[in-house]
Amino acid sequence: MTISQREVHLINHPDGMPQPSDFAVVETSIDDPGEGQLLVRNDYMSVDPAMRPRLSNGQQALNTPMMGGAIGTVVASRHADFAEGDCVQSQQGFCEYFLSDGKGLAKLDPGELPVTLFMHVLGGTGLTAYGGLLVTGELQDGENVFVSAAAGAVGSVAAQIAKIKNCYTIGSAGSAEKCDWLKNDLGLDAVINYKDGNLRQDLKAAAPKGIDVYFENVGGDHLEAALPRMNPLGRIPVCGMISAYNTPGARSTGITTLSNMIYNRITMKGFVVYEFNDMREQFLSDMTGWIKDGRMKYSETIHNGISEAPEALIGLFTGENIGKMLVKLSD
Ligand SMILES: NC(=O)c1ccc[n+]([C@@H]2O[C@H](COP(=O)([O-])OP(=O)(O)OC[C@H]3O[C@@H](n4cnc5c(N)ncnc54)[C@H](OP(=O)(O)O)[C@@H]3O)[C@@H](O)[C@H]2O)c1
Repeated sequence: MTISQREVHLINHPDGMPQPSDFAVVETSIDDPGEGQLLVRNDYMSVDPAMRPRLSNGQQALNTPMMGGAIGTVVASRHADFAEGDCVQSQQGFCEYFLSDGKGLAKLDPGELPVTLFMHVLGGTGLTAYGGLLVTGELQDGENVFVSAAAGAVGSVAAQIAKIKNCYTIGSAGSAEKCDWLKNDLGLDAVINYKDGNLRQDLKAAAPKGIDVYFENVGGDHLEAALPRMNPLGRIPVCGMISAYNTPGARSTGITTLSNMIYNRITMKGFVVYEFNDMREQFLSDMTGWIKDGRMKYSETIHNGISEAPEALIGLFTGENIGKMLVKLSD
């Protein structure tokens, strides 16, 4: 039996902020799985800032499914290692259904936990925050930490790990609602609404003892403001620079405060999540424990239906999400 399914294609390379008209939802048909194949129905798709630079730098081809991660359910299988009903995580792109030969699929056993956690706190997002802060950032108990985009998926995990490690933790975010969540639900010590005030002055006031670790998600004005506040031997693990992603070559605004690195001997170091793959077991054990004992909280912003995927991606750049941005396709 042939089924029809929809997928999201890029149809224009965006210049600046992506527009809904840069994408198209395209209907295709899929045949039954052949010998050695399985058919997967995607249930949730992960929407990530890293998708944006790919839309303009040639990595995302036009008129093909948008690259992206998803979690789904095996609905038919003629593959020895997968059975109908298995839950699988994949990188097959933004589509409702796909045929697979099993390569690149990871089986998940969420147990009592919501499956979506494997797309954020218990997935790559969580590992990014964990490795970036503890390994690249060399976080020590009781230090002073600043996290930008702190109400986002990575930032909210990084900020809470800092709190778990007894650090004085400052978070910046782009709305009063996000700042309330960070302060009142996640227990941060100080919050800055960078869209309402003077970031440089507000960060100075929020960091009376300076900053030992700045977990960098934003770049531009945030990096400019953080550098003068860094304590001697401070570390800046560079996770991302989302403020730059809508410009060609992901170029950020110019930073004029880099000379602060000299006498304070600051280390700034970029990292990519796959560096931490060998600590996944320890990460899962710590993170599962923190979720269960209530010290790791999370939030999800969920769009419904594949046709909302472009809007969800654009929403990352307008600050629509609290916690992880997801698109739900099926129960
Ligand atoms: N190195 C790695 O391996 C790795 C892995 C995953 C993610 N990352 C990076 O981590 C960062 C966060 O990713 P995420 O998945 O957790 O996304 P996210 O933080 O959940 O979503 C993006 C958030 O960034 C903020 N933002 C957008 N444009 C901004 C701007 N011009 N200035 C300041 N803030 C802006 C928005 O919040 P506000 O309302 O607060 O503005 C938005 O909600 C990104 O830079 C991403 O590229 C890196």
